[in-house]
Amino acid sequence: METPTISFLCLSLLLFAATLPPPAVSVCNSHDKAVLLKIKEELGNPYVLTSWKSSTDCCREWYAVKCNRTTHRITEILVQYDDNLSGQIPAAVGDLPYLELIFFHKLPKLTGTIPQTVAKLKYLQSLWITWTNITGPVPAIIGKIKSLTYINLQFNNLTGSIPPSLSSLPNLGYLDLSCNKLTGSIPPSFGSFQNQDFYLKLSHNQLSGQIPSSLGDVVLDTVDLSRNMLTGDASFLFGKNKSVLFYIDLSRNLLSFDFSNVEFNPTVLQYIDLNHNRIYGKLPEGLTELPHLQFF
Ligand SMILES: *[C@@H]1O[C@H](CO)[C@@H](O)[C@H](O)[C@H]1NC(C)=O
Ligand SMILES: *[C@@H]1O[C@H](CO)[C@@H](O)[C@H](O)[C@H]1NC(C)=O
Ligand SMILES: *[C@@H]1O[C@H](CO)[C@@H](O)[C@H](O)[C@H]1NC(C)=O
Ligand SMILES: *[C@@H]1O[C@H](CO)[C@@H](O)[C@H](O)[C@H]1NC(C)=O
Ligand SMILES: *[C@@H]1O[C@H](CO)[C@@H](O)[C@H](O)[C@H]1NC(C)=O
Repeated sequence: METPTISFLCLSLLLFAATLPPPAVSVCNSHDKAVLLKIKEELGNPYVLTSWKSSTDCCREWYAVKCNRTTHRITEILVQYDDNLSGQIPAAVGDLPYLELIFFHKLPKLTGTIPQTVAKLKYLQSLWITWTNITGPVPAIIGKIKSLTYINLQFNNLTGSIPPSLSSLPNLGYLDLSCNKLTGSIPPSFGSFQNQDFYLKLSHNQLSGQIPSSLGDVVLDTVDLSRNMLTGDASFLFGKNKSVLFYIDLSRNLLSFDFSNVEFNPTVLQYIDLNHNRIYGKLPEGLTELPHLQFF
C-alpha cells in the first residue's frame, strides 16, 4: 500500500515531467525534407541554407522554410539576400505539394527561367521572385494555379509578352511585373480581373500598343504603367466610378488623348503622374476638387 507521501511525490514528478519540452522527435515530413535537401544542393549549398541539414528537423530547426503546425508539411520557402547563391530555381519546388508561398528576393546570381513545375502547386497563393537575374518568359502555365492571389516578379530580366492566361486567376488581386524587359501589348483579357481592389504595376518594360479599353472595367486601386511605349487613349482609366483608385502613374509613354473632359472620383485619389506623353487639351476642373491629391 502506498503512503500518501509517495503518491504526492509521484504526482509532483508527473507534473514536473509535463512542463518539460517534448522529446526531440522529428516532425518534418520526410518527402519534403528530401526535396528541400535536393533544392539546397542544386543552389550550390549556399550560406543562407546552412541550417538545412539531414540530421535536423526541417519544421523546428531550419531557417527559410515554414511548416503547417498540424500537418507538418512545408508551406513556405523564403530565400533572400545571398550574393553567392547561384544556379536556377530548381524544378523540384513543384514537388512540395502544400507550398503556399515562394519567395526568392535579392539573389543576384539566381539565373535561368521560372520552372513550369510551379503549376503543380495547387495551394500556391504568392509567387514572389524579385531582384534576381532570372530570364525567359512569365510562363503562361501560371494561369493554371487558381489559388494565386499575389504575383510579384519585379526587377528581373524577364522577356517575351505578358501571358493573357493570368486573367483567368479568379483570386488574383496583386500583379507586379515591373522592371523587366517585357514586350508586346497588355492583353485585352486583363479586363476580366474580378478583385475589387486590384493592384497592377507593369512599369519599366518595353510594352507597346494601346492600353486595352477593357482595363477600364477593372476595379483598380493602383495602376502603374509608366516607362513603356504605350500609345493612344487612357482616359477610360479615370471616371466618376473609379471609387478605390488612389494611385495612377502613366508617365513616360506615348499616350495621346484629350484631357479636358476627364472626370475624377474625388474619394481617395492621391497621386496622378502623366509626364512625358502626348496628352492635350485643358486641365479639367475636377482636378481642383480632389481633397486627397498630393501629387500631380
Ligand atoms: C561569398 O563569396 C565570397 C567570395 O568567395 C566570400 O568572401 C564571402 O564570405 C561569401 N559570402 C557568404 C555569405 O557566403
Ligand atoms: C494546416 O493544415 C490544416 C489541414 O490541412 C488546415 O486546416 C490548416 O488551415 C492549416 N494551417 C495553416 C496555418 O495554414
Ligand atoms: C544581375 O547580374 C548583374 C551582373 O552579373 C548584376 O550587376 C545585377 O545587379 C544583377 N541584377 C540583380 C537584380 O540582382
Ligand atoms: C540582366 O540585365 C542586366 C541589366 O540590363 C544585365 O546587366 C545582366 O547581365 C542581365 N543578366 C542576365 C542573366 O541576362
Ligand atoms: C465606368 O465608367 C466608364 C465611363 O466613364 C464606363 O465606360 C465603364 O463601363 C464604367 N465601369 C463600371 C464598372 O461601371
